[in-house]
Order: sequence, then structure tokens, then C-alpha cells
Amino acid sequence: MTDTSMAEKRNFLVLGSGAREHALVRSLSLSAFADTLYCAPGNPGIGGQARLLPLPAMTAEYVLPLVRKHSIHMAVIGPEAPLAAGLADDLRKEGVAVFGPGKAGAALEGSKAFAKKFMERQGIPTALWDLCTTMEEAEEALEKRTPPYVVKADGLAAGKGVFVTSSLEEAKEAAENLLVRDLLGEAGRRILVEDGLEGEELTILALTDGKTYRLLPPSQDHKRVFDGDRGPNTGGMGAYSPVPLADPALMEKIRKTILEPTFEGLRRENIPYCGVLYAGLMVDEGGTPRVIEYNVRFGDPEAQVVLPLLEGDLGEILLACAGGRLEEIEWKETSRWAADVVLASGGYPGPFEKGKIVSGLEEAERGENFLLFHGGTALSPEGKICTAGGRVFSAVGVGGTLEEALERAYAGVSLISFDSMHYRRDIGQKALIRQRRKPS
Ligand code: AMP
Ligand code: GLY
Repeated sequence: MTDTSMAEKRNFLVLGSGAREHALVRSLSLSAFADTLYCAPGNPGIGGQARLLPLPAMTAEYVLPLVRKHSIHMAVIGPEAPLAAGLADDLRKEGVAVFGPGKAGAALEGSKAFAKKFMERQGIPTALWDLCTTMEEAEEALEKRTPPYVVKADGLAAGKGVFVTSSLEEAKEAAENLLVRDLLGEAGRRILVEDGLEGEELTILALTDGKTYRLLPPSQDHKRVFDGDRGPNTGGMGAYSPVPLADPALMEKIRKTILEPTFEGLRRENIPYCGVLYAGLMVDEGGTPRVIEYNVRFGDPEAQVVLPLLEGDLGEILLACAGGRLEEIEWKETSRWAADVVLASGGYPGPFEKGKIVSGLEEAERGENFLLFHGGTALSPEGKICTAGGRVFSAVGVGGTLEEALERAYAGVSLISFDSMHYRRDIGQKALIRQRRKPS
């Protein structure tokens, strides 16, 4: 362990306003290296652990004055859009330490075609794909495939740019919505048609300073809105970590066939990368992992389970990443488990109402080994916490086993309520079944 008694304390600014950013702020609030912690724009839950700063837009024009006024040493950029737009480059140019890649690295998420070509150059396993800009190309690419059909917008679409369907007609319609009806504007003017991958999904988060990388515990998201992985895709209805599927043999395969070629490729192509690289994987029945997609930031809800398990000092780790010193930092592997149940607004991921008053928060937050991260909340005119987004809270339990983590998460959930609240009751079930089949 590093001696933190002499730690030089810095002011940190976390950019973003969701439960992922709340988890980042909470871990930084425990850091021996953090002096004043700021978050912009944040949310009322984050306001309990950081000073909130208003931020009209996540651009250098608005962020730099905050950095100067509050003597901020390090900025941690939560969401992908400002990274893809080059905010990290703009801040670095002004001497700010930044956790998050510049525009060149962020293209791994900002353009799915760029990511696919990069993987092709490095020989990284992924679904076969075609890039299409016209309906003729899209129809040809779809007709040569078998279900499930996968159609994706090339650019950023806030989780709304991927369509997976068993019907050829629906897939063609998705392509038409993007290419002809301009559903997502510029982001959907180029689309990818991919082979559908089958298996179990797995999220690997790797921290890197551009020279070396270190893994956070593996995690698994729950993308579909209803129990049993049914219903439409969402931003993520829950997660758990670590993942029994990711045994040492699979992790070794992931390092060899995916992570090492990815970081080696970035170096070889002179793409600087400091931040977290999210590898979204599909592991098939034979245990072969393939990349579904890269993200260039922490996952949401993955951050909410992975960060509470971190045995190191997050402030120290992020500073080391920005300073190219990640190799010097040691931390223990976790022996605990975490589970996150996302509490969503009625109707989400479709249209939903906002402004519902939330009850039971104080009682829930008294729960042992229970953490409540705010995702989409605001203060009502009377100063009460109310709903302001689709994914309102991440209710996280931590324990010595996955069962214990889940029990604590759902115990907290049972105390919280708001009108039309819904959540999945089966978070972590796949892992529990696997553990029962193959006791370790
Ligand atoms: P994304 O929004 O890019 O994370 O994609 C949303 C979800 O679509 C992924 O988490 C997968 O469940 C699914 N998906 C994306 N690409 C494929 C593929 N090639 N095969 C099967 N499922 C996919
Ligand atoms: N959990 C998926 C994502 O953050 O994109």
C-alpha cells in the first residue's frame, strides 16, 4: 500500500450528472488525495458529497472558467459526448490534468466504423460487419445474414442507436429510419450492419495511462427493461460485480486476444489514451470472447458496482493515470461483491413523467453496506427529492457474497418509493445459477 499520510491534496472536478458520476464522487470523497471536490452540473444526491457548480454546456468555454476560479487540478470527464468532441484535449492544452481520452482516442466510441476498422487492423475478434450509407447497401448487407439482425448508427446516439431484431423487416425499417428518415441526424447517416453475436455479455473496464493498464473487477449489465432479459433495451437496469463467468482462464483470453492488442494498437497508431477503456464483450458458449463495442468512459450502471469494490485510492489512481505513473500504484484485488438495482420512472425507456416525490430515502440510506447513487433526481419547489430522469437511482448493496450484496440492495429498494417506480427483480440471477452449477 502507498503511504498516504503525506499525500498532496488536489481539487478535483467531476463532469456529469448521473449515478456513474455520483459513484465517482463518492469514491473520490474517500481519497487521501482529494481536497475540495466539485461536480458540474451534478445532481442533488451528488451535492451531499461535492460542491455543485452550474454548467450550461460541457465545453471548454464553460469548464475552463470553473477550473481557474476553483483552482482545479484534475478534471474527470464522465460522459462520452464531451470526450468525443475533444474536451479533454482542450483542457490539457490549458495545463489541466484530465482523466479521459482526447478526441482521437474517443473515436473508439464516437464512430463505430472507426472502432471496427481499428479492431480489424489489430486482429481483435468482433462481429463481421458492413458499412452502409444507402438503403440498397443496407438491404444487401441484411439479406446475406441470418437472425438476429443488428443495425447500428455509426455515431453517438445516447444508447438509442443500436437495433437488434429477429425480423428482417424490422431491421430494414431500422436502417430506413436512420438512413432515410434521419431519426438520429448526423449520427445515423452511416450505419453498420453486423452479424448477431450469441452468448453472455461481460463488461471489462481497464484503467490506463497510455503506457500500462490495470483492470477493475469484471461486471455485467442488464440491458433489457424486464426480468428474464425481455423488453426493449435501456441504458442499463442493474449490474453486479465480479462475474463468475469471468474465471481466470477467460480473463487470460481476454487479455491476450482483446486488451493487449487494443492497447498495443493504440500505441502503434500513436493514439494517446489516458482514462478508462470499456470493452463490452460477448462470450460465446465455447468461451470465446468478442468485442461488441468499445466505450471510452465508465459504464453506467457498471461504475456503481465496480467503484465501491475498488481497494485502492481512486484519487491517487486517477492522478497517476494523468501523470503516466500508473505502474507505480498498487492495490489489492477485491474479495467482496456488489449489486446494483436501478430504480426507473414508469414508462422508461419510453416516455415518462418527471417530478414524482420520492419517499424512504433516509431510512434506506441508513442500511449497512448500502449505497444510493442518484441518477435522475431534482429538488421540488418545496425542497424535496423528486424524479427528473428515466433511471432515477442506483441502489447498491455490497457484501461478502453475491447473495449478500443482492439482499442488501433489494432491502434498500424495498424502502424507497415513487409513483410508477419500476425495477428488475432478477439482477445477478445468471451468476447465482452459474455458481450453483459450478461451486468454486
Ligand atoms: P450498445 O448500445 O452499443 O451498448 O449496444 C446495445 C446492446 O445491443 C449491447 O449491449 C448488446 O446487447 C446488443 N448488441 C450490439 N451489437 C450486437 C451484436 N453484434 N450481436 C448481438 N447483440 C449486439
Ligand atoms: N452500461 C452500458 C454503458 O454504459 O454504455
